[in-house]
Amino acid sequence: MNYKAIKLVKRPETQIESDGFSLVELNIPELNDGEFLIKQTHMSLDPAMRGWMSAATDSYIAPVELGDIMRSSGVGEVVESRHESFPVGTKVAGLFGWTEYLASDGTGVSVMPKELPAEAILSVLALSGVTAYHGLMEIAKPKAGETLLVSGAAGSVGSIVGQIAKAEGLRVIGVAGSDDKCRWLTEELGFDDAINYKTADLESAVREAAPNGIDIYFENTGGPIQHITFNHMNTFGRVVVCGVISDYNSISPAAAPSWINVVKKRLNIQGFAMPDQFHRFGELSQKVGAYLMKGQIKYRSHVLDGLESAIDGINLLFTGGNEGKLIVKV
Ligand SMILES: NC(=O)c1ccc[n+]([C@@H]2O[C@H](COP(=O)([O-])OP(=O)(O)OC[C@H]3O[C@@H](n4cnc5c(N)ncnc54)[C@H](OP(=O)(O)O)[C@@H]3O)[C@@H](O)[C@H]2O)c1
Repeated sequence: MNYKAIKLVKRPETQIESDGFSLVELNIPELNDGEFLIKQTHMSLDPAMRGWMSAATDSYIAPVELGDIMRSSGVGEVVESRHESFPVGTKVAGLFGWTEYLASDGTGVSVMPKELPAEAILSVLALSGVTAYHGLMEIAKPKAGETLLVSGAAGSVGSIVGQIAKAEGLRVIGVAGSDDKCRWLTEELGFDDAINYKTADLESAVREAAPNGIDIYFENTGGPIQHITFNHMNTFGRVVVCGVISDYNSISPAAAPSWINVVKKRLNIQGFAMPDQFHRFGELSQKVGAYLMKGQIKYRSHVLDGLESAIDGINLLFTGGNEGKLIVKV
C-alpha cells in the first residue's frame, strides 16, 4: 500500500511558496521487531516551521534538510505493531512530519489518552499550551493585580497566555489583527481589553488600556506594538520574548527598541525556546490541563482538510487568516 508525504525541496527566501514542497508517494514500510506503524490523523502547523525551512544553523534546532519530509508535530493512531508498549489502537503524539503514515520505534512518541480529541491535544496540551505556561508562569512569574499585554493574542499561544493570566488574577490586554478576533478575546475569553493593531492608534490605545503601565509584555509578533509597549513598561517589568512572527519572512529583521528603558525601568527581557523544556513536556502539559479541566481555558481550532492543504495553508499564520490553532486533518 502507498501513502502520501510532503518533502521540503526548496528553501523560502521571504514568504513560503508552494514550489518549495514536493508531494511524494511512498510504500508503507515493513516493520521490524520493536517498531510500530502510526497513521497520522492531525498535524500542527506552526510559525516556527518558517525557521526550520531556512538554512540557518545557529538556532535552537537544526534546519529540515532539502529532500526530507517537512517537520511538524502531530497526533495519530497505532495501526500495526511489533512493540509491546504501543499496541494497535494507541493514540500517540510526536514530531511526525508532513506524512500520512510513519514507522517508529517509540523514540520521542508520547501516549495520549484515547478520549482526548486531537484538536484539544494540539490546541492546548501540546506546544501551544506548554509554551504559554512556561513563558508566563516560569519566566514572567506573574503576580495577581499586575497588568499583562500579549501580542498575537488571538493565536494559539497568545490566547492561552491571556487566559492563564486572567485565571491568576491579572489585568489582561490582547493585541490582535481584526475586530472579530478582538471581540472573541473580550467577549468569549474574558480579556479586559483588546487592541486591533491594524486599525488602532496604538500609542493612545495602549495608554487607555493600561493606565497604570504594563508589568509583563508577552511578545509573539514584534512590529509597531513592540516599541510602544516597551515605552509603557513599569519598573521591574518583564518582557518574555516567545516569538517575532512579523520578522520571519523578512530578509532584514526590524530594529528593536533602544535599551535605555531596560536601565531606567530595570527590565528583565528573556527569550525562550520550548525544545529546551521537552524533557518536562508531560509535567508542563498536566499544569496546562489543570486550567483546561477547571474551564479556565477555551480554545478554537482552525482545521484544514487533507495533507496537501498544509502547503498553502501554512501561510494563513503569516496573513492572520487562521482563527485559532492551525491544524491539518490528514
Ligand atoms: N519560543 C517558543 O518555543 C515558541 C513556541 C511556539 C510558538 N512560538 C511563537 O509564538 C508566536 C505565536 O505562535 P502561534 O503558534 O500561537 O501562532 P498563531 O498566533 O496561532 O498564528 C500566528 C498569528 O500571528 C499574527 N501575525 C502574523 N503576522 C503578523 C505580523 N506581521 N504582525 C503582527 N501579527 C502577525 C496573526 O494574527 P493577527 O490576525 O492577530 O495578525 C496570526 O494569526 C509565534 O511568533 C511563534 O513563533 C514560540
